[in-house]
Amino acid sequence: MARVLYLILSTIFLPFSIVAQQINGTGSVPVGTSLTATENGMPWLSPLGDFAFGFQQIQQKESFLLSIWYDKIPNKTVVWYPEGGPMVPRGSKVELRDGRGLVLSDPQGKVVWTSESNISDRAYGFMNDTGNFVIVDGISRKVWESFRFPTDTILPTQVMERSGELISKISETNFTLGRFQLTLLQDGNLILRKRDIRSGVLYNTYYRSGTRDSNRSIAGKQLIYDETGYMYVLKGSGQIVDLNRKDAIDSRLYYQRATLESNGVFTQYYYPKNPTGNTDWTVLRPLPDYICDWIDGTDGTGACGFNSVCSLDGNRVNCECPKGFSLLDPNDPIGDCKPVSAPTCDEGYDGNQFDFIELTNIDWPGSDYVRVEPTNEETCKTFCLQDCLCAVAIYRDQRCWKKKLPLSNGKKDPSLVVKAFLKYRIGDLPNETPYVSSKEKNNQRSLIVVILSTCVFVIFLLCGVICVGFFLIHKKTTINHYPSSKLVDTNLPRFTYQELVEATSGFKDELGKGAFGTVYKGVIGVKTVAVKKLDRVFEDGDKEFKSEVNAIAKTHHKNLVQLLGYCDDGDHRLLVYEYMSNGTLAGFLFGDMKPSWKLRSDVIVGIAKGLAYLHEECSTQVIHCDIKPQNILLDDSYNAKISDFGLAKLLMMDQSRTSTGIRGTKGYVAPEWFRNAPVTVMVDVYSFGVLLLEMISCRKSVVINESDSKDVVAVLTDWAWDCYQEGKLDVFLENDLEALDDYKRLMTFVKVGLWCVQENPSMRPTMRKVIQMLEGVVEVNKPPCPFPFSVTST
Ligand SMILES: *[C@@H]1O[C@H](CO)[C@@H](O)[C@H](O)[C@H]1NC(C)=O
Ligand SMILES: *[C@@H]1O[C@H](CO)[C@@H](O)[C@H](O)[C@H]1NC(C)=O
Ligand SMILES: *[C@@H]1O[C@H](CO)[C@@H](O)[C@H](O)[C@H]1NC(C)=O
Ligand SMILES: *[C@@H]1O[C@H](CO)[C@@H](O)[C@H](O)[C@H]1NC(C)=O
Ligand SMILES: *[C@@H]1O[C@H](CO)[C@@H](O)[C@H](O)[C@H]1NC(C)=O
Ligand SMILES: *[C@@H]1O[C@H](CO)[C@@H](O)[C@H](O)[C@H]1NC(C)=O
Repeated sequence: MARVLYLILSTIFLPFSIVAQQINGTGSVPVGTSLTATENGMPWLSPLGDFAFGFQQIQQKESFLLSIWYDKIPNKTVVWYPEGGPMVPRGSKVELRDGRGLVLSDPQGKVVWTSESNISDRAYGFMNDTGNFVIVDGISRKVWESFRFPTDTILPTQVMERSGELISKISETNFTLGRFQLTLLQDGNLILRKRDIRSGVLYNTYYRSGTRDSNRSIAGKQLIYDETGYMYVLKGSGQIVDLNRKDAIDSRLYYQRATLESNGVFTQYYYPKNPTGNTDWTVLRPLPDYICDWIDGTDGTGACGFNSVCSLDGNRVNCECPKGFSLLDPNDPIGDCKPVSAPTCDEGYDGNQFDFIELTNIDWPGSDYVRVEPTNEETCKTFCLQDCLCAVAIYRDQRCWKKKLPLSNGKKDPSLVVKAFLKYRIGDLPNETPYVSSKEKNNQRSLIVVILSTCVFVIFLLCGVICVGFFLIHKKTTINHYPSSKLVDTNLPRFTYQELVEATSGFKDELGKGAFGTVYKGVIGVKTVAVKKLDRVFEDGDKEFKSEVNAIAKTHHKNLVQLLGYCDDGDHRLLVYEYMSNGTLAGFLFGDMKPSWKLRSDVIVGIAKGLAYLHEECSTQVIHCDIKPQNILLDDSYNAKISDFGLAKLLMMDQSRTSTGIRGTKGYVAPEWFRNAPVTVMVDVYSFGVLLLEMISCRKSVVINESDSKDVVAVLTDWAWDCYQEGKLDVFLENDLEALDDYKRLMTFVKVGLWCVQENPSMRPTMRKVIQMLEGVVEVNKPPCPFPFSVTST
């Protein structure tokens, strides 16, 4: 109030334009004040000096951008600029003008941009410490706010209404409207989609928040980035759908922003307010996580330009031009690539003038125009050579795709088991020796070459025989489960041992001990993590460990604990997982308070879904082998997450168990481990059944005899069968009224449990079937006695 009064008075008594010095520090800018674009121009600062409004010189050139930026960060990260990022020359001016608001004009006085706000001469601008530049007229009427016109970034305390949008810029230094848009649609969905930079036409959506509703009054209403750094969509129904998994960062210690990057990733970042040493913005959460896989569709291209190839390095998106291509604009590394040698359909096209560069693990889905199958690699190449339109041939599993230029949605990933043959005109790639010279040029080949290659062949053959011999002697039993392409380093962050020692303060805070190692709590950056130190030393060292880590890293499911990184430093093998604040299911289930039936049944379905994913949806089937409450973790919303998956294979090479004995934990182990029957996914179904019965009754499946801790008696399954047979579920549940009230579902769950613990593995349902039964999609038959031929044993 006093400030407003002061401003009113000062504008009355100081008719001349007020110079920046006087208003510096208060953040206020009266009507009539202006700024000029020069290198050392003093911007309008916010009271604490965190944000500045003014001109930023872009790339040491004679061009300036009117913008708001973080002034205390060395890079002066820009958070707002007028839409389209108009560049103006030195000497341009921005003025807060009576009747028009902010007016940006070039040295000739031509207006380049204006905020179009009809303000009185008593209005003032204010650079707030939130990063919001506001124009206030009258006592406190906000006429204009930069927060209402966001460009590619939103900041904590900023809210986006329906129809609001962010548009990425073209590149780090070109602020023209770029290739991606984030918008909150009228139907309530927050989406990310591609756009054409020239026409502004909007293309395929590649991310949806799922907050739409045909009833507008309960659909997504606002995108909110609150002052604590928590980002969510608020629905009209009052429901909150979070976008950053509540990984909120302390806003007193860190600056934060969320920017729709030029590569289409909506990324949340943080930066320490009091940095020590060199630092940069750290990614808190990218949306979507795996941009290279998410963007597809036939219009436009993906995260990287046309002909370019996208890959992920941790959270960083890499775009590169493959061999045979180079950047169209050398200053725009994520832009289009041009072919060094494009195929042309000139008269007299002759396939003999072309050859191929062979690339692996690269594909451009969606640029195909012809598919041939079945075929073989040689024929595939010949097809492409004979076709003047064909630029690239992709070969996989006896199928051949011919592709035309420009190629779109290119991606590179070790899991892409394809061969790409890039056609080029012989002689066009001067200094390049293609990876594989594939074409038969026998007409040109001299006799010498033939002789030479024969010699080489004989030598290779000899080497081969020797190597195979060696291999057989030394590695009689090792079978490599993975094609060699998978042995490439994973995209997961890799930590040094020292880094993890520091992250865990020297492995001080132990969270638990498992079959494979001990887990410690740690902090990396600002994120709390769980670090698992594996006990076993790996015979086959690096290769085996990496391929397993690779396989684990590829599993993504909301009911699996996510692997965040790993360490293979010397003898040390550690895995870094997300930290689960609510601990293990064992603590939850057998703790002091019995959790509610509703929560228990949600957790059961979650576990079933995670297991079904491991069994049926992973590229390589994963048998967990050790499902038990200690291996199920709960996140802060009590979502069940399975841990320790993928390790069974890693730590027990031989799943036929002849040499290593039984895997798993007493009480949860399927009977076939004791018989001479093959071990299949059904062992997990059995363990899940035991777990299900425990979850229903809140009792442990085994009772450890106090006098002799080795004497373990499995009682729960027998007891469950007896209670079920005699119709005494109230006894089984110890009068859990909430569950007994939900009798139909309770009965279903008990029956599913009894089906899962059938001694005969072929009687047990698959996890997919289990989910259908639990969710009531299919009827559950009356289970038979689970142990027809058993003398109870463990
Ligand atoms: C802004 O205020 C600070 C501290 O009050 C002062 O050191 C600085 O010189 C002022 N800036 C200008 C351009 O006068
Ligand atoms: C910001 O500064 C750091 C170090 O000062 C530098 O490594 C980084 O590339 C800069 N980032 C941008 C976007 O300019
Ligand atoms: C601006 O506001 C004044 C006073 O409220 C009004 O008289 C005038 O017509 C407005 N001008 C425009 C262009 O809207
Ligand atoms: C500046 O931001 C603070 C915190 O959000 C808010 O309370 C205040 O009203 C803002 N000032 C103006 C002039 O908008
Ligand atoms: C930014 O990119 C657009 C589209 O590619 C181009 O037309 C424009 O000249 C570029 N601007 C600058 C300043 O490089
Ligand atoms: C939409 O939802 C509101 C609140 O739940 C409800 O009152 C209203 O009847 C619904 N409208 C329609 C058309 O379903």
